[in-house]
Amino acid sequence: MLVSGRGSNLEAVLRAIKRRRIRGAEVAVVISNKPGVKALEIASRFGVASVVIPSEGLERSAYDKKVSECLADHGVEPGTGLVLLAGFMRLLSADFVGSFRGRILNIHPSLLPSFPGLDAQKQALDYGAKVAGCTVHFVVPEVDAGPIVLQQAVDVREKDTAETLSARILRKEHVLYPLAVKLFVEGKLSIEGRRVRIRD
Ligand code: GRF
Repeated sequence: MLVSGRGSNLEAVLRAIKRRRIRGAEVAVVISNKPGVKALEIASRFGVASVVIPSEGLERSAYDKKVSECLADHGVEPGTGLVLLAGFMRLLSADFVGSFRGRILNIHPSLLPSFPGLDAQKQALDYGAKVAGCTVHFVVPEVDAGPIVLQQAVDVREKDTAETLSARILRKEHVLYPLAVKLFVEGKLSIEGRRVRIRD
């Protein structure tokens, strides 16, 4: 899993594995591009290996090569592994995305294609949207643009601030992301153009 910060989605996935809601999968390694972040503490609490690969000053392709090598060192290979982005605040190169094609998932705190990019919850609020939410999608080189696996809507309330709305969306993220991972691990997802088919 690739992270940059708080790691609450990482924790949700690790908990789902621990409670055997997701079976037949393990998180092989947590890679953070930032040192000292909470996600690293969470990894160690769950006994999962973690590695910091600082991204500052590195070109995108050089950075992604290091990530690929680290994944391979932990047995995560293109064609078999699954790469989960959870609050990973970097874009991945087309080469990296290409090599793990159809095997990288991300969670984004909006109902895509509305409000891609940073501060999605604030974007929704500022726009005056009445419904916000979160999306799990496959990753393509373009930001927040890949085929959608699952979405969950969250009503915007009159008194919402970016913080209160984000908190309500986050609670839904913690259900949606483990569910998407479970569906992937069970081999129930297939990508047909822009559509992700879910078997059963
Ligand atoms: C989440 O809101 C996720 O949707 C977005 O970044 C945030 C990460 O939070 N991509 P956390 O690090 O999982 O707590």
